[in-house]
Amino acid sequence: MALDANGDAFVEFDRVQKSYDGETLVVKDLNLSLPRGEFLTMLGPSGSGKTTCLMMLAGFETATHGDIRLGGVSINNIPPHKRGIGMVFQNYALFPHMTVAENLSFPLEVRNMGKSEREGKVKRALDMVQMGEFGGRRPAQLSGGQQQRIALARALVFEAELVLMDEPLGALDKQLREHMQFEIKHIADNLGITVVYVTHDQTEALTMSDRVAVFNDGVIQQLAPPDLLYEEPQNSFVAQFIGENNTLMGEVVSMAEDKAEVKLDNGEVIDTVPVNVNAVGERTLVSIRPERVEFNKDRLQPGAHTVHAEVLEFIYMGDIYRTRLRVAGNENFIVKTRNAPDQRRLQAGEKLEIGWRPQDCRALDA
Ligand SMILES: Nc1ncnc2c1ncn2[C@@H]1O[C@H](COP(=O)(O)OP(=O)(O)O)[C@@H](O)[C@H]1O
Ligand SMILES: [Mg+2]
Repeated sequence: MALDANGDAFVEFDRVQKSYDGETLVVKDLNLSLPRGEFLTMLGPSGSGKTTCLMMLAGFETATHGDIRLGGVSINNIPPHKRGIGMVFQNYALFPHMTVAENLSFPLEVRNMGKSEREGKVKRALDMVQMGEFGGRRPAQLSGGQQQRIALARALVFEAELVLMDEPLGALDKQLREHMQFEIKHIADNLGITVVYVTHDQTEALTMSDRVAVFNDGVIQQLAPPDLLYEEPQNSFVAQFIGENNTLMGEVVSMAEDKAEVKLDNGEVIDTVPVNVNAVGERTLVSIRPERVEFNKDRLQPGAHTVHAEVLEFIYMGDIYRTRLRVAGNENFIVKTRNAPDQRRLQAGEKLEIGWRPQDCRALDA
């Protein structure tokens, strides 16, 4: 992943807005730029504007306002087939009456490419997805995963530098989906192509991406690499959308640059990092990841605040223990601990004190 020699972004959305009906904006003042070779995922709930952004980039929809640039050149007036972009959709959209090779060859034929050049490109594209043996089959004679690979090959056959994918694995079962996630990622890395990938599946986004843009309501809520997104969510939407998350409600009672004390609604006080709160007296949603909760007092920093908890349920999950607690009125407070020889299994009904490192506890917008 690198910026172009002149430092310019490869793909750029510059203050892009989109309205379908002339009234509601489904994409609001979107700014996003990515360098050549990046794998960027647009992640968000249904209706948050991801597909609309992809369609504008591909040229099937026009932006109501703003500019989209590719390699520094505005593409607003360039038709889709001249943008040099490959696309992969969820419903493969392969022609059932054509063989695999014909499916790949057809778009090249439409562009008046000669037979031998076409054959060379089709072979290369099929080899990239390890489907070189399957050129003579029809789509119906392939598994779902194989069809998805052919759809990917068809996007690669143009040797496009930019490939857009909209929920391409949505129709596959879990195991195949996970396998294809790695496969697509490896193919993209090996070819050095730039990918803009759309999904509503946060695990998929974390697994595949260099960076993830979290969408909600037509606005990018946070744009960050997977680990930062998970460990340092900037607002309560991102904290709750990405990964499992415990939330406690309270009010800021003291405020310093790197620490805010929060009085929870049951009166207990905890230390937090003030991420999205500004003043004493503000309501806040405090966020703590289940694997960052500590109930062994020896492992807590001296003087760390603890809160009272009661075990409601203990679930043995093999690699981890999952314990559900009541904490400050929240009966769905989850603690995950690794199944290690020195780890204690908590019992339902047990009362204990829990704590965490202050930096793992983030005070966000309520
Ligand atoms: N062709 C269209 N005409 C009118 N409204 C649309 C059209 N496509 C999408 N929308 C609306 O725009 C919003 C964003 O949709 P979309 O971009 O498909 O979201 P996502 O891909 O994140 O699910 C939704 O409210 C959707 O109903
Ligand atoms: Mg969509």
